[in-house]
Amino acid sequence: MLKGMTRRAVLGAMGVGVLLGLAGAGVQPGGKGPITVGFSQVGAESAWRTAETKSIKDEAAERGVELKFADAQGKQANQIRAVRSFINQRVDAIIIAPVVETGWEPVLREAKRAKIPVVLVDRGIKTSDESLYATLIASDFVEEGRMAAAWLAEKTGGACRIVELQGTTGAAPAIDRQKGFAEVIAEHPGMEVIKSQPADFERAKGKAVMQAFIKAEGERIDAVYAHNDDMALGAIQALEEAGLKPGEDVLIVSVDGVKEAFAAMVEGKLNATVECNPLLGPIAFDTIEKILAGEEVPKFIKQEDRLFDRSTAAEAIGSREY
Ligand code: AHR
Repeated sequence: MLKGMTRRAVLGAMGVGVLLGLAGAGVQPGGKGPITVGFSQVGAESAWRTAETKSIKDEAAERGVELKFADAQGKQANQIRAVRSFINQRVDAIIIAPVVETGWEPVLREAKRAKIPVVLVDRGIKTSDESLYATLIASDFVEEGRMAAAWLAEKTGGACRIVELQGTTGAAPAIDRQKGFAEVIAEHPGMEVIKSQPADFERAKGKAVMQAFIKAEGERIDAVYAHNDDMALGAIQALEEAGLKPGEDVLIVSVDGVKEAFAAMVEGKLNATVECNPLLGPIAFDTIEKILAGEEVPKFIKQEDRLFDRSTAAEAIGSREY
């Protein structure tokens, strides 16, 4: 554990670690054994989330980091409990993928008091005190929403009726992907979101909400915007069961870029997906090692995303890692 060491002592010890060839290998400065990191994960609601968990677990194993993993099953209360337990166990650093944006300040203050750095991955939080976490490693979700809307505007000549499948209420990707999408369609008076409802980033809920949309709006629906691929894949099932051709009768654009979404694009059932990188293990542990060595890290470490559509799916599918 590093608590109690001054920054100078940490850096000095780090120098010894470098000499011993140990630095950067998940080992405490000075070669005193592996570092311990607690990871509070949202849950396993989507293929994206499973890929993120695997990336962090694999990278910890690769570096000899002792990882304490807690799956919160979609509940913030479970995440807060897990973080408190990591603090009590005096881990060296804590990674949190926060399920929602608000409500983190008390537990983050406890981590700060215990001098345990917190790295947020994939989702941001709302706080008036940014010193409560070391950095956020994530995509720009607003930009992802903009990319999805711009693609749809181009494909439809700026005229279509859209139904929107939102992610978990209060979650950064749900809020920001809705915001970015709305920003762009506001520039196209012919584009309208006729229904919008949460489906919690889950496939079964995406299907159920889409069934309700079809019942209410029927053939008025020109396009689906899903905040993630899993909900889009659920919507595809609902459309097929209603006798419609997803990808043709109804255009579908989503976010994540999971392998199954590429397969759906190759089959012609999904039109486009905006990639959101879940493979955050390497950058997360590089960053933790820098923080523990006393280095400054940026407050936001942005991951770059790009949009794939049917024209590039077949070529890209073979190299997809998640
Ligand atoms: O925070 C990232 C989002 O959470 C992904 O888009 C979604 O699939 C996941 O559940």
